Amino acid sequence: MMNNTKNTNNGIVTLLAGIGLVAVASTALATDKANSAGVEERAKAQFVDDMTAKLPEGYRGWVHVGTFFKEPGSKSILDGSTIEGASFAHTYVEPSALAAYKESGKWPDGTQFVKEFAVSSLDDGSCDKKTGLCSTEHGVGIFENYYLGLAYMVKDAERFPDAAGNWGYFGFGPAEEKGGAYPETAELRSVENCAGCHIAHVADKDYVFSDLHIGLQ
Ligand code: HEC
Repeated sequence: MMNNTKNTNNGIVTLLAGIGLVAVASTALATDKANSAGVEERAKAQFVDDMTAKLPEGYRGWVHVGTFFKEPGSKSILDGSTIEGASFAHTYVEPSALAAYKESGKWPDGTQFVKEFAVSSLDDGSCDKKTGLCSTEHGVGIFENYYLGLAYMVKDAERFPDAAGNWGYFGFGPAEEKGGAYPETAELRSVENCAGCHIAHVADKDYVFSDLHIGLQ
């Protein structure tokens, strides 16, 4: 008797869950259709308010379009501090935005770019302080040792109607400790801090340095 009641309940729950799934699936389908040349609903940037973005999730699984290298001792664009080791800036773009760009040649509203900085340690074996090259048991090279932080660009006409290209710029980090977690949220950066340089150099490319990313050629 107990078992019967339990089974019946489970049946109802399964049925309801089934209906729920169908409803969710058809909404997702409709949204994907509406955005066939745009950013998928589920991939959208998350904000606390117009001035505050949340750290994007899963960006290391987005499309990696290139890496930019700097010798030891460069200045971080995040806070102007000196980065002791060599640094690599890995650029990722959210895949549905890239698909739309390939189709139309334009970055759709909702596009997100992450440029994440990874740094080499100069204590790892015997390292040349100028080039960053280290001789280690794994050979001579420049090895990435920790993540420093990330620069983030989001195109959002509703939130940033007056910004060039409707891009909002944010910086997460540098993390407080080497390899530590990034802040969960970041405030909108000023034009002087970020956009100015993009405006000066790549206004004709919708403010994206697409010519410098090998994966966008
Ligand atoms: C002095 C010029 C300059 C400043 C200031 C600057 N950037 Fe950039 N940014 C670049 C260059 C050059 C690239 C492409 C090369 C690379 O991969 O680093 C780039 C690339 C990017 C990318 C990858 C997408 C793209 O446009 O290629 C993001 C995201 C980004 N920057 C965000 C920021 C943020 C956020 C700030 C402020 C914290 C900032 N940038 C400040 C020059 C600048």
